[in-house]
Amino acid sequence: MIRIARATQASSSVIADMEVDTKEFPLTYDQVKEYTTSRSRRAYVASIHGKIVGHVLITAWESDSYETGNDKLVSIDSLGVLPSFRGKGISYDLVHAARDKAIDYGTRNLIIIVPHYTIEDKDDPWNILGWLERMGFQYHRLFTDELVRYGKKYDAYIYLRKT
Ligand SMILES: CC(C)(COP(=O)(O)OP(=O)(O)OC[C@H]1O[C@@H](n2cnc3c(N)ncnc32)[C@H](O)[C@@H]1OP(=O)(O)O)[C@@H](O)C(=O)NCCC(=O)NCCS
Repeated sequence: MIRIARATQASSSVIADMEVDTKEFPLTYDQVKEYTTSRSRRAYVASIHGKIVGHVLITAWESDSYETGNDKLVSIDSLGVLPSFRGKGISYDLVHAARDKAIDYGTRNLIIIVPHYTIEDKDDPWNILGWLERMGFQYHRLFTDELVRYGKKYDAYIYLRKT
């Protein structure tokens, strides 16, 4: 059975390891830890039989920096499921945890920031666009040169889902 729970600071190193296993540019331990300690951020983990197998990191924004037409929004900053646990519906539950947080926070705007390199990787048979569509996200806008990973700037796409 899949269990979703808010992550505590003690889970930060497990989540940081999962970033490495699921992301091309993983967030560092310190960056992950911020999601378990900051008031405006949250980390949720998915577990199966006590083993953490997925995570989602979100931020609640006070003002709309992404032109979604609302003064508040929640962004999914990172989401990953360990390769051997994919295809079991775990990402549905993680997106729902983010959606519930957005509803609690009083906004209908849930966005996900998708780095350009994730979509353009032609060698990746696991097409992320299909997953985004399945999760109810729609293309919102290009985020030019604003995503910074390891000191380098990347284009990203913003996908929006109305909760
Ligand atoms: C994308 C990812 C999160 C999917 O996790 P998952 O737990 O295997 O996905 P689920 O089992 O919850 O699938 C949910 C639905 O999306 C569909 N789906 C999943 N990946 C898909 C893809 N690449 N293309 C089309 N549909 C896809 C599933 O078939 C399922 O739909 P269904 O219920 O109609 O069968 C996982 O592959 C991953 O961690 N990838 C690397 C990190 C990443 O890209 N994160 C997302 C952007 S930050």
